Amino acid sequence: TGYVTLDIGYKNTGATKSAITFLDGEVGILKYRGYPIEQLAQKSSFLEVAYLLIYGELPTAEQIKNFQTQINHHTLVHEDMKKFFDGYPSNSHPMGQLTGLISSLSAFYPESLNSNQTAEEINLTIVKLLAKMTTIVSWIYKKSLGHPVIYPQNRFDYVTNFLYMTFGQRTEEVVIDPVVVEAMNVLLILHGDHEQNCSTSTVRIVGSSEANLYSSVTAGICALWGPLHGGANQAVIEMLEKIKADGGDTEKWINKAKDKNDPFRLMGFGHRVYKNFDPRAKIIKKACDDILEKLGIDDEVLSIAKQLEEVALKDPYFIERKLYPNVDFYSGIIYRALGFPTEMFTVLFALGRLPGWIAQWKEMKENKEPIGRPRQIYVGAVDRDYVDIDKR
Ligand code: CMC
Repeated sequence: TGYVTLDIGYKNTGATKSAITFLDGEVGILKYRGYPIEQLAQKSSFLEVAYLLIYGELPTAEQIKNFQTQINHHTLVHEDMKKFFDGYPSNSHPMGQLTGLISSLSAFYPESLNSNQTAEEINLTIVKLLAKMTTIVSWIYKKSLGHPVIYPQNRFDYVTNFLYMTFGQRTEEVVIDPVVVEAMNVLLILHGDHEQNCSTSTVRIVGSSEANLYSSVTAGICALWGPLHGGANQAVIEMLEKIKADGGDTEKWINKAKDKNDPFRLMGFGHRVYKNFDPRAKIIKKACDDILEKLGIDDEVLSIAKQLEEVALKDPYFIERKLYPNVDFYSGIIYRALGFPTEMFTVLFALGRLPGWIAQWKEMKENKEPIGRPRQIYVGAVDRDYVDIDKR
């Protein structure tokens, strides 16, 4: 005691030991439970990756079937929750709605409040959260359109059910395009986990006080919202739109990003740990080309994004600081092509990151980690005597 190591922003402080995600930012490697992200993105499904992250192993055919069945049994959300959801203004930000809805799951499903839940009870809470998240996210999307919500259908798999509730109509049979299902799986897999980032550390630190899973994850969603973290995917598209409206002069905007007197930053660029490239961005860039081509979409912001990247990667400012496109640089262009409005992008990031937050919360609990409690170096006034108000 008495001796405090100062590391503002935790740039080099390890807060836990974890067996979930490995990344080497110098080389550009990312693995979940030892499996390279490239293989998972190409071969796996999001639900399988969720299982891998949470339980540590790829599921057998029977395990994934049971997992899907369990989830399907819990996709309905309490109707009373729907009543308070109806009270949100239709133009309120989807992330503001998501934080409130996920937080209130603890009120509707209070068995989660017991901090001594058995492993089986914890699993049930996990399954409920994974299941209800898809329904809640689709509600939020439907509200943005002023459309009625669509109830889940148990015949669908996790991602298809989400897309059905999102893009389906009550009046007609909707066929979900397999290209869209595949694209969504890839995007969600790439967002699955990313070790001790801002939102995940938040989930662990909140959970370390023995707060329930719903509350811990809500705290993570709040942390994700900021534009330096998950909110960057919305900020990227808004930036690209602005550049487009401004005549598409990418060099001008690169110069703005370099100007230290200008608060503008190139959104979707730079990363705390990746100093070579972000392996997720590489996969997303290619997926973006493929998906837009398959869907027959020609989006001008994609060519602006590519030009920006090209100019930035040749510029000494970005080279010296090792700034590369991150996962958020191209993801929004895909979400847009799939039909999501810009304000929904960070909610989709949260849907993808959910298994990671759950896995990290569960690991923290299983490791019986002590309550998280950083120290500080006090730099304020030392000794002062109280001054009465008429003498100040
Ligand atoms: N545009 C212009 N300059 C930048 C950028 C950028 N996007 N990112 C970093 N820099 C500069 C920064 O000004 C600093 O320069 P100097 O050394 O001259 O002061 C240097 O590069 C180091 O940056 P930093 O802010 O000290 O780095 P950090 O590790 O604290 O921040 C970051 C990382 C991701 C917050 C930052 O790169 C950034 O703000 N990027 C834009 C927002 C973004 O895309 N966020 C998504 C991150 S990936 C997904 C996720 O985490 O959710």
